[in-house]
Amino acid sequence: MTAAELPHSLLATLPGHHYTDPSIFALEQSRIFEAGWFCAVRSADLAEPGAFQTVQVGRESVLIARDRRGNLNAFLNVCRHRGARLCTEETGQVQRSLQCPYHAWTYGLDGKLIAAPNLGGMPDIDPEEYGLNRVHLREWLGYAWVCLAEEPPSFDDTVIADVAQRLGDAGELDAYDIAALELGERIRYDVKANWKQIIENFMECYHCATIHPELTEVLPEFADGFAAQYYVGHGAEFGDDVRGFTVDGGDGVQRLPGVAEHQDRRYYAITVRPQVFINLVPDHVIIHRMFPLTAERTLVDCDWLYLPDVIASGQDLSRSVELFHRVNQQDFDACERCQLAMDSRSYASGGVLVPSEHHIAEFHDWVRERLAG
Ligand code: FES
Ligand code: FE
Repeated sequence: MTAAELPHSLLATLPGHHYTDPSIFALEQSRIFEAGWFCAVRSADLAEPGAFQTVQVGRESVLIARDRRGNLNAFLNVCRHRGARLCTEETGQVQRSLQCPYHAWTYGLDGKLIAAPNLGGMPDIDPEEYGLNRVHLREWLGYAWVCLAEEPPSFDDTVIADVAQRLGDAGELDAYDIAALELGERIRYDVKANWKQIIENFMECYHCATIHPELTEVLPEFADGFAAQYYVGHGAEFGDDVRGFTVDGGDGVQRLPGVAEHQDRRYYAITVRPQVFINLVPDHVIIHRMFPLTAERTLVDCDWLYLPDVIASGQDLSRSVELFHRVNQQDFDACERCQLAMDSRSYASGGVLVPSEHHIAEFHDWVRERLAG
């Protein structure tokens, strides 16, 4: 059935091969992940000068390091001599410089080439010219976002506008002062699914009644299958008997001091395209970063963030973390279940979106526009 033949209340999805075809994934890498802002690392994970992390952004490995002045810098993780990958570890700590393991060219934490052995006979190597290639970096919400484009799109018109669209006003985030929170827990999920499955799943709550028993206990309106994402300006309200956003609805921890009356006892979910989800509740914030590795595999790092006092007190956060950990497992199981069928002839021309999922079509349009160049 073509899109034109569908009943008015249904919309077509993307066809199945958009979730498996390596050539489509390659286009997404270049035109989406390498073209816009990509949330790479949590700034506090690189606390000391010399701390570095490497992350996959599109087809590139990106190296992010804190320099001796305390600034974060991002570079392509490629030695300028013969192209060796400079850092192969995902995370590490150096003293003053990054040295290529191949011929020992050495770069400062600001990317400058500072030493190259035995160059006496080759005075034409200009250290200025052979520094590491820089990548744009911007810190926001306590995370370093990078952009591989030569001319990055406006951060405000893309990332912040996405948040504003979901919350009515991006200023609503200020109450949670996310950059001042500390990491209580981080769990990495290795999901055998295309990144778009994960976004689409996060954008709809049609599935909540079926697969999220604990979440719908805490947020009873989700049992009706409302699309939390677009219904969110107001947030989803906690059930009457619920004391906190925990796996059993029991007490949470100390409320974030800036949370306003209209935000209290509510849950907000925001998708920041292309690879971040922000969940806001009164006593913590949950941030997911996706790292699409292949058409059919995506790493997801999920951070649970709390007030520094709460972390310092050593309070038990397990019931707080467990709620969304279960939600994550339930969601990613569903994504993997769909992924299995994407190459089936039964899904060759895709499926349908029911009315409470219609906003997913806007995401599909956004992807299609970018792939069209
Ligand atoms: Fe890095 Fe030669 S490739 S020093
Ligand atoms: Fe879900």
